[in-house]
Amino acid sequence: MKKTALVVAFCLFVSFLISAAVAQEKPSPSANLALTPPMGWNSWNKFACNVSEDMIKGMADAVVKSGMKDAGYVYVNIDDCWQVSRDANASIVVDPQRFPHGMKAVGDYIHSLGLKFGVYSDAGSKTCAGRPGGLGHEYQDAVQYAAWGVDYLKYDWCHASTQDAKASYANIRAALDASGRPIVLSICEWGTAKPWLWGQEVGGNLWRTTGDINDRWGGKQKWPDGSCCSNGVLAILDQQVGLQSYAGPGHWNDPDMLEVGNGGMTDIEYRTHFSLWAILAAPLIAGNDLRNMRPEIHDILTNKEVIAVDQDPLGREGERVAKNGDLEVWAKQMKDGSRAIILLNRGESEQEITANWEDLGYPKTLSASVRDLWEHKDLGKVTAKFSSRVAPHAVVMVTVKP
Ligand code: GLA
Repeated sequence: MKKTALVVAFCLFVSFLISAAVAQEKPSPSANLALTPPMGWNSWNKFACNVSEDMIKGMADAVVKSGMKDAGYVYVNIDDCWQVSRDANASIVVDPQRFPHGMKAVGDYIHSLGLKFGVYSDAGSKTCAGRPGGLGHEYQDAVQYAAWGVDYLKYDWCHASTQDAKASYANIRAALDASGRPIVLSICEWGTAKPWLWGQEVGGNLWRTTGDINDRWGGKQKWPDGSCCSNGVLAILDQQVGLQSYAGPGHWNDPDMLEVGNGGMTDIEYRTHFSLWAILAAPLIAGNDLRNMRPEIHDILTNKEVIAVDQDPLGREGERVAKNGDLEVWAKQMKDGSRAIILLNRGESEQEITANWEDLGYPKTLSASVRDLWEHKDLGKVTAKFSSRVAPHAVVMVTVKP
């Protein structure tokens, strides 16, 4: 009898310990966000401060009508300049001219289309466009964002250079989580404090690895005020080398938003830009006017075979596996054991580029099926290597499946 009572008491004690531990480990509402790289649209690259309720709603309509939603694009994100001041309670004030019905109305509209809603703020006292930032108001703003139905916050780094980056982003993540709403956190710190080293630990879902992208093919370019630098596609690409091990489901390197369709590059270059972002498992955040897209631009942004490389559930970021001057091979391991491959010609004349199996981690003797993701064509089985002629500034993008 006595023994039974002891056993019962012991069992009760153990179940008490287990339930206490479970209660303490209340999961963050943001766990399991962005298990594949986020896809959507953002206002900055095309519209800068020229944002408004009508434009954003029109863009959300266009995400659906253009087939972008079907291709996987879900976030509609308003970047800088929606905010004008703080009121007597220090609540953030939305520009009443540009957003006459307020942010909740915009969020409700976006949600009614089955899409998700993103906004932008800054870890410092002001945003990059000089609007009020989040410093000192993190918890108050997070409650406000949650009430508007915000699903995604891009948090910039202007007017913040004396702050500790890791602590600042940990603070906004804690504030977002305290709101109770799952919100993707996009760390926009430009790579200065190497956010790939701490971004995941502080609950960031993606972090910019570089300064701003520019709608150009080439290298770095100084800003109009002489400070350094905005980056063409190749300059951004080169800054991703070596960062691949930091990315994975829920936490991604972000080489900045897409410029596809904004007019500064050729269609071939835009195809290359999109292909490279996909092999990098980069967030695919379109930055063009989706209401007026040429068919060529539409076909780039909605190429489902290329998007599937970006969104592969294994979550590996691709890497440069071979380089010979202007000729490069990039490869990404996929969940089914296949590899996505890009043959990239950075140069000015057509060249033959070869991907050797050994550079992909495959034995030389392996026979594999090759499929061209832009031509949508099976190219048959090959052994040891795959070679193709590649036009200047172009890619050949294939999957190699054993
Ligand atoms: C910074 C960011 C950009 C954009 C602007 C807005 O430059 O890196 O992506 O958000 O601020 O002012």
